[in-house]
Amino acid sequence: MGEGDVLGHVPMGIVEAVGSEVTHVRPGDRVVLPFTICCGHCFMCDQGLQSQCETTQVREQGMGASLFGFSKLYGEVPGGQAEFLRVPLANYMPIKVPEEAEGLPDERFVYLSDVLPTSWQAVEYAGIPEGGSVAVFGLGPIGQMSSRIAHHRGHRVIAVDLVPERIEMARRYGIEVLDANDHDDIPEAIREMTGGRGPDSVIDAVGMEAHGSPATGITQQVAGLLPDTVAQPVMQEAGVDRLSALYAAINTVRRGGTISLIGVYGGQADPLPMLTLFDKQIQLRMGQANVKYWVDDIMPLLTRGDDPLGVESFATHRLPLEEGPHGYEIFQKKQDGAIKILLRP
Ligand SMILES: NC(=O)c1ccc[n+]([C@@H]2O[C@H](COP(=O)([O-])OP(=O)(O)OC[C@H]3O[C@@H](n4cnc5c(N)ncnc54)[C@H](O)[C@@H]3O)[C@@H](O)[C@H]2O)c1
Ligand SMILES: [Zn+2]
Repeated sequence: MGEGDVLGHVPMGIVEAVGSEVTHVRPGDRVVLPFTICCGHCFMCDQGLQSQCETTQVREQGMGASLFGFSKLYGEVPGGQAEFLRVPLANYMPIKVPEEAEGLPDERFVYLSDVLPTSWQAVEYAGIPEGGSVAVFGLGPIGQMSSRIAHHRGHRVIAVDLVPERIEMARRYGIEVLDANDHDDIPEAIREMTGGRGPDSVIDAVGMEAHGSPATGITQQVAGLLPDTVAQPVMQEAGVDRLSALYAAINTVRRGGTISLIGVYGGQADPLPMLTLFDKQIQLRMGQANVKYWVDDIMPLLTRGDDPLGVESFATHRLPLEEGPHGYEIFQKKQDGAIKILLRP
């Protein structure tokens, strides 16, 4: 990140002004912005791969579509934790809150920007068979919503984390939970719960910041200390070698099952158990969320009176924008029960 970069990639708001060629939205419209910036009419967008948009790919970094509020790696586009947000490609990007939802609060819709489509994609990519089972590793916002969506679709969900209030939140939604602190061998514990075979699918909603492989804390700290030009290759190539959640997923999934990686991974230096992946005939799917692709599937659940995904009560904290730094601190350190924080400018 550079000095003056504006963070924030899960924004919604009211349209204040539009460019001369914009017809898709008008001032006064209530809109949510996908965190993946995309054009809607290129080769990739046409097949629902908006996170690979060829109009906004960050080619100088060899990366996919630009993202709001991220580092140089994804285009350094100013993000939404601000009073105003400039939205590129505005004839496609904004997701309009439907008119019939006028009386419903912003919190019904704001998670359409990232958490919900990301979690929806995680469940879709997990390919859980009808009436099948899925293990979800990690109960941050993404793991919570992935669990709720899979449960809502009638699948058996077994979720794992180590933070008590996160485990408790999932339990309140009828999810079977395992506290990783209570088990030496989580894959074995899940096998025991699934007839010795393991679940049909696993969603890894942890990513490279997993607890359990201390090596990388060091990589990250070292990268933080280096001058920019040296630190970037360290993060991108030497990588953040924390694969413990992925290793657990490979161990846990049943033979012939599917692993859906929605947690973010980087780096190139880690060995993968290729023999196990091959021999167990595991399918692996992953990627940045193609936000726009899933919106029509999710919207009907958000306007329903009974709020089946519990979005209205999802945020654990609501803070004014000025308290952003405090919000980041309690989220990162998992203090004060912080699971999801909404900032209001
Ligand atoms: N693919 C996408 O488009 C996309 C979009 C949003 C977020 N993400 C990624 O999804 C991941 C989760 O995001 P989040 O906002 O929920 O983050 P988070 O940090 O709140 O959640 C991670 C959770 O995993 C738990 N955890 C850590 N190590 C574990 C282990 N070994 N076993 C089980 N649980 C473990 C943590 O306690 C935490 O609750 C991150 O990697 C994030 O970058 C991806
Ligand atoms: Zn495109």
